[in-house]
Amino acid sequence: MYLDFAATNKISQIWIDSVIHSNSKNLFGNPGSYHKAGFEALDMMENSTKNILNDIFEDKEIANQYDICYNSGSTESINQFIYAMSKQQNVLIVYENVAHKAVLKSVQKYFPEDNFKLDFSLTVEDNLKNLKEFLENSQKYYKRCVLVLTSVNNETGGIINPEIISKIDNIFKDYRKISTYVGERLIDVFIDHTQGFMKNNEIVHLADAFCFSAHKIGGMKGFGGLVYKKEYERILKENPLIVGGYEIRGGTKDPISVKALDDLVDDKYIRRIISGDTIVHLHNVIVWKLQEIANEYKIELTFNKHSDFYMKDQSPYIINASFVGIEGESLMSSLIDDCISTGSACNSSELKTSHVLSGMGIKKLIANCAFRISIDETVNEEELKDFLDNRFKPAIKFLARMRTRHGEE
Ligand SMILES: Cc1ncc(COP(=O)(O)O)c(C=O)c1O
Repeated sequence: MYLDFAATNKISQIWIDSVIHSNSKNLFGNPGSYHKAGFEALDMMENSTKNILNDIFEDKEIANQYDICYNSGSTESINQFIYAMSKQQNVLIVYENVAHKAVLKSVQKYFPEDNFKLDFSLTVEDNLKNLKEFLENSQKYYKRCVLVLTSVNNETGGIINPEIISKIDNIFKDYRKISTYVGERLIDVFIDHTQGFMKNNEIVHLADAFCFSAHKIGGMKGFGGLVYKKEYERILKENPLIVGGYEIRGGTKDPISVKALDDLVDDKYIRRIISGDTIVHLHNVIVWKLQEIANEYKIELTFNKHSDFYMKDQSPYIINASFVGIEGESLMSSLIDDCISTGSACNSSELKTSHVLSGMGIKKLIANCAFRISIDETVNEEELKDFLDNRFKPAIKFLARMRTRHGEE
């Protein structure tokens, strides 16, 4: 059974049908070409972009403030935005220690010095205090602060609390009072929206830019975009990550995928409204079953959640838990025909503890036992129960006995 939807999804029939339809209608032209096919493709792209933005923001006026640069997805968008901002003057980047590698690596590469890491094992107050001290003791004046947040954490499903944005903005306002530098803008908010796209769209109303990948909602891998406020167009155009055209991103555009995304987003948007309770129900089934297993075999079970102010809520799409003493890797390898994920990244020579879980202050012993089950509305409840009762539960029973035996030796 496939339960790794946070990693990627099957391509939806809507996407496939849309591509076949556009192709058969000869809407495959190069939108940059000055002829009938090019104009038609460009019209289709522009129209679909409008629809996508309207579906995301649910408000035409707000949607109209944004545009989309289509690209290979979130990793590229994160690099694109962080790179362009690194080319501005006097910029400090503030980011999360629990962010996705795409954020961590981009910050390391483009902002090796001017960065401040929010530490999710500390309280918000302590982090804010540290940020204040960092600014006061800094040898530089920072004109802008780029704040990079994750709407939904890919390992834990924690949903970011938007209040953190105004708290950091206030710190910058205070800082500006004591500095002599007067810039036009205080903070630029970038949201890594990969896991929240079309699921938790509220936060993006507060974003100056955010990223998404189509494959997280049933589109093709290697397609996605950077959604940005139009006032950022100049910065992005002046500092392209990929050159080779006159636009923000060089390369031939893909109108067919844009139309497919439009059709998919429209469906997701409508389907989520109709079936909002489905996902919560499936989530609860998993939680109940895990608790039942823990009780039956008397194993300590923890749900690896952010308990602090950072996370206002928990996404029902992602469950991260640990049966204490049963390593995530062992659990995964005993589920040969089923697909769940661990919180740890394994490389051939060492088992690395997840930087997200350790960044939240979760002990190594628990973090190494973490596993992630991620779902979407298409998961069949009967199949899910069958998996949990007849394959997951026996695997836990077996590993728990191994653990006890091991302990006795
Ligand atoms: C939170 C988050 N950010 C960024 C990415 C990178 O997305 P992509 O591999 O589609 O570029 C992922 C992928 O899983 C993710 O979960």
